[in-house]
Amino acid sequence: MTSLPLSPQVFTILAMLIEQRAGLHYGPEDRDLLSEKVSSRALDAGFDSLLDYYYFLRYDPKGSAALDALVDSLLVHETYFFREPQSLQVLVDELLVPAVHAGQHPRVWCAASATGEEPLTLAMMLDAKGVLGDVSLLATDLSVRALERARAGEYNLRCLRALPKGVEGRWLDVVDGRPRVRPELVAKVEWKQLNLMDTANFPPPGSFDAVLCRNVLIYFQDDTARRVVDGLTRVLKPGGQLVVGTSESLMRFGTALHCEERRGSFFYRKVES
Ligand SMILES: C[S@@+](CC[C@H](N)C(=O)[O-])C[C@H]1O[C@@H](n2cnc3c(N)ncnc32)[C@H](O)[C@@H]1O
Repeated sequence: MTSLPLSPQVFTILAMLIEQRAGLHYGPEDRDLLSEKVSSRALDAGFDSLLDYYYFLRYDPKGSAALDALVDSLLVHETYFFREPQSLQVLVDELLVPAVHAGQHPRVWCAASATGEEPLTLAMMLDAKGVLGDVSLLATDLSVRALERARAGEYNLRCLRALPKGVEGRWLDVVDGRPRVRPELVAKVEWKQLNLMDTANFPPPGSFDAVLCRNVLIYFQDDTARRVVDGLTRVLKPGGQLVVGTSESLMRFGTALHCEERRGSFFYRKVES
């Protein structure tokens, strides 16, 4: 495919625009990648210069929607059922099930849920313990396209690559090679679009017993990640837990949360004041 020329100067301002909107960071080594992705959208929109396209995105009344669509095309939705299941299982066994047995109604926010495999895995684990009806699950992502797929509950076989026995036939069915999650499970999750950059639009402070924010902070620079984590910390109840991906650590930029290891998984607890 043809890429339009992207000078270092225009790369810098385009990358800044994208980072401000979605947090995604592009370094100089990503110039060719970004040029390819942005060029196809610029050409489709009738531009033959990426500087002109930048001005359109930034200043035209239709630019904001075009920037959202561009950002959506850049997002990586890689995920699958039972990805990094250990931390989810520990969350269920050690926090959510005991809370339900103590008469509470815990709330969990899955803050970058992509096409939904992560919150649906959690829903399956909760159902297996008989407590799904007692736990509220909110799943959000920036991508409207990913959320549409999550709400439809339709998947492909790659999403099943780590599926344990007993899931198929109970919570999902594969018909003609197309996995489909049972609609009653999909309906247990509240799906909403939310940009992690918009911390002012986060749910009210102190609303959640646990927040999952796995495999998304890696796309952000430390300052951005810190701002997002501060926002997520606010929505946790005192004693609530933040769970990040296994390859992510909040220690590199410091956090007010208290890091604890539980059965090999790291949890970040909001200290009770
Ligand atoms: C690699 S997926 C991770 C999905 C899932 N949490 C997991 O661990 O399998 C990253 C997700 O983060 C979302 N994302 C990226 N930037 C975001 C932002 N600023 N706000 C909300 N979601 C964002 C992407 O749309 C994508 O669906």
